[in-house]
Amino acid sequence: MHNLLKGKRGIIFGALDSKSIAWKVAERAHEEGAKLVLTNAPVALRLGTISELAEKTGSQIIPADATSIMDLEHLIDESMKLLGGKIDFVLHSIGMSVNVRRGNHYTHQDYNFTKTGWDVSALSFHRLMSVLYQRDAMNEWGSLVALTYMAAQRVFPDYNDMADNKAYLESVARSFGYFFGRDKKVRVNTISQSPTPTTAGSGVKGFDGFIAFAEKMSPLGNATALECADYTISLFSDLTKKVTLQNLFHDGGFSNMGVSTALMEDFMKSQPQPESDEEPKASKK
Ligand SMILES: NC(=O)c1ccc[n+]([C@@H]2O[C@H](COP(=O)([O-])OP(=O)(O)OC[C@H]3O[C@@H](n4cnc5c(N)ncnc54)[C@H](O)[C@@H]3O)[C@@H](O)[C@H]2O)c1
Repeated sequence: MHNLLKGKRGIIFGALDSKSIAWKVAERAHEEGAKLVLTNAPVALRLGTISELAEKTGSQIIPADATSIMDLEHLIDESMKLLGGKIDFVLHSIGMSVNVRRGNHYTHQDYNFTKTGWDVSALSFHRLMSVLYQRDAMNEWGSLVALTYMAAQRVFPDYNDMADNKAYLESVARSFGYFFGRDKKVRVNTISQSPTPTTAGSGVKGFDGFIAFAEKMSPLGNATALECADYTISLFSDLTKKVTLQNLFHDGGFSNMGVSTALMEDFMKSQPQPESDEEPKASKK
């Protein structure tokens, strides 16, 4: 390990179980010398295994529902007391769509569910930044990171209303990031991660196909949760002090691909073979 976060204080949202990306980030941040507070929604603390992570990383757990300003204010105030000063880094690793959970198709949303999913997955980042900003809780050259997915830019039909939530999340990161940079010298970025087998990821319809397709499309293959954690640590460290307002793709190259030879070979195998002496017929789309 490289002591990249030695002496730094951080808050990690969203570690539910050992598959969670946030779990890996907490483990890596601890290995790099940071002191941490772990947080999640009260219900997730009951259902998940976060106390194991707290023990492993010598961290305290403070429950907070990311849709509640009061919970967030309490979390930030208590974290500064527990950690002994202002905060250097925060990971927002929160996502949930009620429409996805209930199996509502994108074209037939229940808009109350849509609002709840947006509140949890996207507005929560604005709310968190607002509390940190107003309380002047971040140290200069601190770093905020939220996790996102490429459905914010391109169509992935089964990602449903989470695509819109991620587009909002990325926009908020840029808009608030401007004020955080200008006024507090704090950077704000989003990491756009490969599909990853976690509780939230596996909730997306057809996830197995999704992840296998991305693996074949990406020249470096899908990025794992641990690799995402490593990348996140670099953004929390002092090695990336002037990186801000960015949506950073961490996806083995997927986001810049058109087609790969592996996928084209698979596709051609499923096509009817033209008879040897005939001209191939143009297929109907
Ligand atoms: N898994 C993937 O394929 C993938 C790909 C790209 C981006 N992401 C993003 O990574 C982040 C982490 O997801 P994950 O894949 O590790 O899954 P996960 O299910 O382990 O984590 C999601 C977390 O959100 C928390 N959460 C839900 N509602 C909350 C609330 N009201 N307040 C506070 N926390 C709440 C959950 O308790 C859980 O810990 C999410 O933003 C997700 O969209 C995931």
